Amino acid sequence: MSKKTLVVTYLPSGERSNTKKLVDAFLAAAQGKTRLEQLDLLKELPDVFSAEVLGAYVTRNYMGQALTPAQAAAIAKMDRMTAQLKAADVVVVAFPMHNFGLPAPVKAWFDSVMLKGQTWDVGASGFVGLMKGKQALILNSSGGVYEGSLAGWEHAVSLAKVEFTFMGYESIEAVAAGGMNAKAAQAPEVLAAAQAQLKDLVARWYA
Ligand SMILES: Cc1cc2nc3c(=O)[nH]c(=O)nc-3n(C[C@H](O)[C@H](O)[C@H](O)COP(=O)(O)O)c2cc1C
Repeated sequence: MSKKTLVVTYLPSGERSNTKKLVDAFLAAAQGKTRLEQLDLLKELPDVFSAEVLGAYVTRNYMGQALTPAQAAAIAKMDRMTAQLKAADVVVVAFPMHNFGLPAPVKAWFDSVMLKGQTWDVGASGFVGLMKGKQALILNSSGGVYEGSLAGWEHAVSLAKVEFTFMGYESIEAVAAGGMNAKAAQAPEVLAAAQAQLKDLVARWYA
């Protein structure tokens, strides 16, 4: 049980959530195989880049200057979330698709943890991800199916993959249940297939 796994959830549909069915399958399979920590973004809403937060970030992480106590307080929540992510070997992020992309709190979480000098940096030959050797799993459900002519409308899982790639994660996988509304009759089947996929993934990742 050497790996630590951080499970970040944004599940505003509560007990009825389709995405929660994937989270529950992951947790059931991973129980006892990894040290689990959970971050519920509904209970701890991430900060966004207000003028104060962005000012503190640029002052410290780009200009290398010391922060005033007020600036340090402004960026404290982002620092906490970043430290929490850095302490995990595996991160799981679970969210539904909202308006073709990441729900705002999930984007705010990515903005909170993608701090220069912490999870990525600029080296002699460009951007460097600092989260080498780590694994990221994206769990998602959506009302539609984003294949064929609609593939270009999908900006949720695809953006999450870009964010993790930029931070240097070496193993990035997604388990997504599409068509929850557009193909509602098949939803139970699609969810069951995704749950089976998660069981296999856990067996591979925590072998
Ligand atoms: C505010 C809102 C926006 C949504 N936008 C989209 C969308 O752009 N594309 C899509 O395929 N489904 C969309 N859906 C449908 C959900 O992604 C889908 O029902 C999903 O399974 C919900 O997951 P949950 O039950 O975990 O909340 C939206 C749902 C809500 C509530």
